[in-house]
Amino acid sequence: MSVAKDPKAQANQSLQTGIRKGLTRYGDTEFSLFLRKAFIKAMGYSDSALERPIIGITNTYSDFNPCHGNVPQMIEAIKRGVMQAGGMPMVFPTISIHESFAFPTSMYLRNLMALDTEEMMRSQPVDAVVLVGGCDKTIPAQLMAAASLDIPVLSIPTGPMLTTLHQGDRLGACTDCRRYWGKFRAGEIDQEEIDEVNGKLAPTTGTCMVMGTASTIACMVETAGLSLPGTAAAPAVMAERFRLSELTGRRAVELAKTADQKTFSPRAILTPKALTNALTVLHAIGGSTNALIHITAVAARLGIKIDLDMVDQLGRNVPVLVDLKPSGAHYMEHLYEDGGLMAVLRELKPHLYLDCLTVSGKTLGEEIEDAKVSKARKVIRISSDPIYPVGGLAILRGNLAPRGAVIKHSAASPDLLKHRGRAVVFSSLEDLALRIDSPDLDVNADDILVLQNAGPKGAPGMPEAGYLPIPKKLAQAGVKDMVRISDARMSGTAFGTIVLHITPESAENGPLAVVRNGDMIVLDVSQRLLHLEVDDAEIRKRIDALASPAERLAIPESGYRRLYQTTVTQADIGCDFDFMVPSMTGTAPVLKGR
Ligand code: FES
Repeated sequence: MSVAKDPKAQANQSLQTGIRKGLTRYGDTEFSLFLRKAFIKAMGYSDSALERPIIGITNTYSDFNPCHGNVPQMIEAIKRGVMQAGGMPMVFPTISIHESFAFPTSMYLRNLMALDTEEMMRSQPVDAVVLVGGCDKTIPAQLMAAASLDIPVLSIPTGPMLTTLHQGDRLGACTDCRRYWGKFRAGEIDQEEIDEVNGKLAPTTGTCMVMGTASTIACMVETAGLSLPGTAAAPAVMAERFRLSELTGRRAVELAKTADQKTFSPRAILTPKALTNALTVLHAIGGSTNALIHITAVAARLGIKIDLDMVDQLGRNVPVLVDLKPSGAHYMEHLYEDGGLMAVLRELKPHLYLDCLTVSGKTLGEEIEDAKVSKARKVIRISSDPIYPVGGLAILRGNLAPRGAVIKHSAASPDLLKHRGRAVVFSSLEDLALRIDSPDLDVNADDILVLQNAGPKGAPGMPEAGYLPIPKKLAQAGVKDMVRISDARMSGTAFGTIVLHITPESAENGPLAVVRNGDMIVLDVSQRLLHLEVDDAEIRKRIDALASPAERLAIPESGYRRLYQTTVTQADIGCDFDFMVPSMTGTAPVLKGR
């Protein structure tokens, strides 16, 4: 027996999908559709093509972004997949941010990219979207955008670069950028050699091929289930990257056709359990400290608070299993050869929630079982033989960081993880640049370098300046590492004993703002302690003597910088704009470690 359908309900339904979705407002919906079709037909589309589910594909290609240099070829492959599955691919541009081409910092622009991506996805008629990103801030921005919407998305990274050799030494961006620059500063290599290295550090398009922020985020997104298995590690220029792109296009159409699109929306996939899995992987891969800020921002948009103490607790039970720079010795192409992220997840199974749904339609546990794993492994260790016995990141607290700070102890010097030293203070990035190499700088190898006013508001944009250079005179004397502390971030590719993200930041008149030259500081990672040996009354007196944050920041009267500096949140809640984050008071689920 057939059931008569309500024509009004049918009409409403069809207005929610495809070309009829989100009609421009002229006060006459039929005319809006008529006009939309008239214009799009200028591109040669037929009526039957326009009746298909529409799959948006974000185009983040830019001449300024070599990490996205393969995007045109990826887009062709995604379109091929969409067409194979009966969908209509529509490519649209968004902002593209490259780490080295963003002034003052890429982080300053991440929230702008998130706004751009969200509103383009909201305002154009798309039934599902493939998010093509890669360079550090781009995927986080896309995920923040997706988290604010409720349509199916699949993320696919551009993939890591390949490496090359320099006089037999394998090189990759950008751990080796810093390693060789350190050698040059110390006088170990000359101008001719550093110029030669400069031409070899990034030998193909793609993202940095160490476990920097881009690789870390790609691994976390694949773990969380918002990208298809295999997408994190396949190199940018290999055929596999384009086959995965085609597959992603096909799957996007299937998601768009699901009866209830919310089944695969970011809100349905990025559950507290899925985010916990991603954080577990962050520890196990020795991932970037930046990723902690980004996932916190994505979670916050979903109303989920990521508790830093829970992150620390997770890390105490999860070893670092991936031997990649900067914590280890190898590169992403080696992780790919070992079976990619799924091979890592297989080792981590006891630590993961395996019942989480992924965009493939399978659970994470099913995906892990299905994955092909290499028997001859080079970089993925078993739990009983880890690279580092506990997770890569630790959360520090103390009177210098009341709301927390982070250290990547898997990439630090073991002998500096417990250290007491005299503060050598730089009040800003400018002050650092002026004095760090001065022969007159009063500094010893046992001192602690302190950088102030490099946080989210202060810099602004929380630059990757936390990796303060070793003062030249010490570098030339052979010093390779010192304890360095700041409210800045650092590149995920960097190595060293570096305390970051001190919250509240200096510009908010946090205790970091009142550290003075000669104060003694204690770092004790095993106790999770960052302590200024100045009594509380004196710290309070120094803070009270400061001008207010608003006076010190000199916020301009208009423009994006005003928006940024008046609304950006602190690192412990993700550095998003405060008006983009829903209230998390009381009702938000809090992630729990296992
Ligand atoms: Fe783009 Fe490293 S500079 S990923």
